[in-house]
Amino acid sequence: MTKSLIMYFSLSGATKTAAETIRKYTHSDIIRLEPKTPYPTGYSQYSKVGMQQMQDKANVAIKTKIPDLHQYDYIFVGYPTWDGQVPRIINTMFAENDFSGSCVVPFSTSVSTSFEDTLGSLKAAVGDGVSIVGGFRYSGEGQARDYLNTYNLTD
Ligand SMILES: Cc1cc2nc3c(=O)[nH]c(=O)nc-3n(C[C@H](O)[C@H](O)[C@H](O)COP(=O)(O)O)c2cc1C
Repeated sequence: MTKSLIMYFSLSGATKTAAETIRKYTHSDIIRLEPKTPYPTGYSQYSKVGMQQMQDKANVAIKTKIPDLHQYDYIFVGYPTWDGQVPRIINTMFAENDFSGSCVVPFSTSVSTSFEDTLGSLKAAVGDGVSIVGGFRYSGEGQARDYLNTYNLTD
């Protein structure tokens, strides 16, 4: 039996919806990443902070306690697209945790940027020695279910 985890970051809830949909079909464990310093409320405020972090390649510290990842065969990693890339908190997550031996299955949300456009920044965050399996931009429950079925990731 395979064991899987969903780790995701979500500010306004779209990636949370995607993560919970994936959970429905995979029965994975699930963890929402929270930054040590909360983002301000209100779109214009938090988008300003987020874009600044992207420009600065900031190190965004994580408050959430992350378990030993070796117990998981698959780790779904979900993120909103920020400035065409993975948000900086995703870089911290990969830098601070040992993903070796697990397969990372990424999923993104965005207004318009494709998953493929975020792949370069994701690979840079993941680093060498960790395999990335496929990946997709979440656009609804049916699409996510079809994707998971195609890759035999439903339980
Ligand atoms: C700082 C910031 C930068 C963003 N950059 C992009 C972008 O480059 N391309 C895009 O399509 N959407 C962009 N968005 C929109 C988000 O990716 C989109 O609304 C996402 O689904 C939000 O996910 P969440 O509700 O889980 O936080 C950006 C949003 C923020 C706050």
